[in-house]
Amino acid sequence: MSKATETLQQKIKEAALGGGEARIASQHKKGKLTARERLHFLMDEGSFQEIGMMVTHRSTEFGLEREKYLGDGVVTGFGTINGRLVYVFSQDFTVFGGSLSETHAQKICRIMDLAMQNGAPVIGLNDSGGARIQEGVVSLGGYADIFYRNTRASGVIPQLSAIMGPCAGGAVYSPAITDFIMMVENTSYMFVTGPNVVKTVTHEEVSSEELGGASTHSSKSGVTHFSCANEIECINNIKALLSYMPQNCEEDAPAVAYEAGNEKRPKLNNIVPENANQPYDMREVIHEVIDADSFLEVHKNYAENIVVGFARLGGKSIGIIANQPAFLAGVLDIKSSNKAARFVRFCDSFNIPLLVFEDVPGFLPGTDQEWNGIISNGAKLLYAFCEATVPRITVITRKAYGGAYDVMNSKHIGADMNYAWPTAEIAVMGAKGAAEIIFKTEIAAAKDPAAKLKEKEMEYIEHFANPYRAAERGYVDEVIMPEDTREKLITAFKMLKNKVDNLPRKKHGNIPL
Ligand code: HXC
Repeated sequence: MSKATETLQQKIKEAALGGGEARIASQHKKGKLTARERLHFLMDEGSFQEIGMMVTHRSTEFGLEREKYLGDGVVTGFGTINGRLVYVFSQDFTVFGGSLSETHAQKICRIMDLAMQNGAPVIGLNDSGGARIQEGVVSLGGYADIFYRNTRASGVIPQLSAIMGPCAGGAVYSPAITDFIMMVENTSYMFVTGPNVVKTVTHEEVSSEELGGASTHSSKSGVTHFSCANEIECINNIKALLSYMPQNCEEDAPAVAYEAGNEKRPKLNNIVPENANQPYDMREVIHEVIDADSFLEVHKNYAENIVVGFARLGGKSIGIIANQPAFLAGVLDIKSSNKAARFVRFCDSFNIPLLVFEDVPGFLPGTDQEWNGIISNGAKLLYAFCEATVPRITVITRKAYGGAYDVMNSKHIGADMNYAWPTAEIAVMGAKGAAEIIFKTEIAAAKDPAAKLKEKEMEYIEHFANPYRAAERGYVDEVIMPEDTREKLITAFKMLKNKVDNLPRKKHGNIPL
């Protein structure tokens, strides 16, 4: 081996060791993989091409000039996942705690620039102690350079973030701008200010896990879309998620092979209970309608009154938004409106058609909701649907009451096809409430007010608690047997495949944030 070749081999070896064997051992002891091990599991075998392996920091303060590591705490490059090009960065906690220096940030920015120029997703594996403390403002500048690119890339290429260790301070805002976040249970956390600062300012005692762990962010704050039991599950989730998405906003999502067969699903006829006030699990409907085992639920443990996620129908990617009668009767509230609005906008950005299953009794009443802004938050979902130009279909399984009827992808706000099951009730409100208001005097004057109320309630049900008034007006295109839903949807989405719908010329809209 020549001296020159030997030097190269030596450097490659050195880079592979990151912060050294002791720190790698400490990483493993915490139940964490190293930056390179993560890439090994994420990328197709042999496909990863590293960029910037020899980069080192330029800092000369606090003795840092004597401590340099090849790569400077982040492994960056490109390669394929299931044969499709992706750009990736993986922070190396063994080098200065994965902290972000000027050069570390430059490496990430280079990856993001390449991804934008070449139209492919960016995946960030985050494991970092935040800004490189010894570098000061250049590190902060580096973060801002990344935030700027995250924002510019939003809606152009998919951006996925996996949090596999600490992600604190301003560093949280890069993942927050990306499309999806996943966190690993017990080994990752995200917060703007950590437990010590919290204690000083608010006197609350809270652990890192409780303040910003995967379970907190997947159920309480909704910051993370997926909570993963371990790093391998997290990596597999990234791969699964990518499989539903196109490479960029100019492309369609990849389809999987599908052979048409008997599309009737008789089980669907028996899911909605006779009693309109009895709950059922909308996931049962979803699973019966879509291609077998194709549902990837997003935000599973957050705002469970609405279910959102990706699926395949006839081999094609779709985004599903479904009221969930099994949780808070499927009511729309602040959290569920936010959750669904963000999902609708992601799908619309990336040409993924939308399918809505509707069973909604209305918006959640109460001071808590009003004072916290159900008006502007509910408007987000309304706005998101109104603005979406992808093919959009709604199936009303039962209740479509009040303003929520309008919001949940009604014909009036641009849905392409609206189906209703025979059990659908499309009305301003529930029959009892309606009867109490419009027949108030008659009921009060009756000999037996309770019997009168019942009679009027039945009258209202007769009139409105069905899909036919809406069908007469064309607000519902067809009332279908539940068992035919899958076939109807496959056919309708095929019919809408070449849909073209453009928004009026504008700089950008002003969604009520
Ligand atoms: C430089 C850092 C570092 C940092 C950790 N290290 N964080 N070096 N800058 N931000 C180094 C440590 O010195 C140590 O070096 C190694 O990484 C591992 O750190 P440990 O503390 O031993 O690990 P652990 O006990 O697991 O604790 C991890 C940690 C802790 C919780 C992340 O290191 C920590 O609190 N770090 C500081 C976090 C922070 O305040 N960051 C700035 C946030 S403000 P050796 O040589 O011993 O291996 C911010 C602003 C962003 O990020 C602004 C954007 C808008």
